Amino acid sequence: VKGQQDQDVDLVKVRRPAHLADAKYGERLALAYSLMKALPDHDPRSFTQQANIHCAYCNAAYQQLNSTQRFQVHASWLFFPFHRWYLYFHERILAKLLADHDHDHDHGHDDLDLDHDHDLDLDHFALPFWNYDHPDGASMPWMYAHLAPLNEAHRDPDHSPPSFAAIDYLTYNAEPRTHSAQARENNAYLYRAMIRDSDSKYSFHGKPYRHGDSPMPGYGSAEKYPHNTLHLWIGSKPDSSMGGLDMGFFYASARDPLFYPHHAAMDRLWEVWSRLPGNAHLRDEDYLNTEFAFYNEHAEMVRVKVRDALDTTDLGYVYEDVPMPWVEAVPVRLSHGAAKIGAKHKVCKMGKPIRKPCSAVLHRDHRKLGSSSSSSSKEKEEEEEENLYIG
Ligand code: C2O
Repeated sequence: VKGQQDQDVDLVKVRRPAHLADAKYGERLALAYSLMKALPDHDPRSFTQQANIHCAYCNAAYQQLNSTQRFQVHASWLFFPFHRWYLYFHERILAKLLADHDHDHDHGHDDLDLDHDHDLDLDHFALPFWNYDHPDGASMPWMYAHLAPLNEAHRDPDHSPPSFAAIDYLTYNAEPRTHSAQARENNAYLYRAMIRDSDSKYSFHGKPYRHGDSPMPGYGSAEKYPHNTLHLWIGSKPDSSMGGLDMGFFYASARDPLFYPHHAAMDRLWEVWSRLPGNAHLRDEDYLNTEFAFYNEHAEMVRVKVRDALDTTDLGYVYEDVPMPWVEAVPVRLSHGAAKIGAKHKVCKMGKPIRKPCSAVLHRDHRKLGSSSSSSSKEKEEEEEENLYIG
């Protein structure tokens, strides 16, 4: 029924790329965070408590129920669903604070539209996502650098805009690259995380983590990068002494407002991955029945299950469709050995200028994406070897 559909569409909020936000949105977001920061620390919706909730589920702060094992959502299949629920409540709290604020400030005016606006915020206010999987969005989003309530002192000052996020951060030993070289590297890393290295059940989600298991059974590909690498890229330099209070440490990371658009980006990548040909959500009952407890926008504790987090439209939001150049960025890999031709020469080193003749074996990934293959028949990654000689 058309009318019904239109109504449903209206109730879905859209999380948009942070770098495209206008000044008006930036002001609203900054206001929402200043309201959250102004709440007393004992309020579970306060910024301090929001950060602590993340901490409660990380670094093995608590024991699992009826077990001597600790609980930890990271480096396991709980990584994506935990953070999806966490952001869901965080976003609703921000929206409620804005709506309440508007309501209080409109008091005494006789404007009939006010109640309407009030509801609009609750239903439409959405977190932005950091669009680092596109070159145009790869710097720290402007709002988080320039608006005081969204800024944070414990960041690497060298990585302020226009510095370009390095998704392969700390995996290379190089001077800063040009933006276009870094964009190529980012695309290649995203391709690996999202396509090449994530084609088996757990390689994307992370390893199974059931009651009684010891924590951190194994990272999923995208949790390693861009997730971990960008936490470290934002946080303090490896050699500086920020006292571990920055985004590079689980327990402190959610004290930086940038944590949330970073995780919205991760949440979106989960959504994108699940729609790529051949991919599917995990159907393991232990996974689906895992529960988390959060505080909602009314400061009430609620329990939620992984099984209810698999479809974002059930949670009332979608991500704006944006171009994804990494889908085409089939990376080229060097093998460890010299190529069969020109074997007497040195093996070429990737990323280094070539001064002398050298050779290498290149692997190209020929798994086709977006081809009309049915989603049940997953195409196996096929690699093709090519001998390359540069003389
Ligand atoms: Cu719960 Cu980015 O970590």
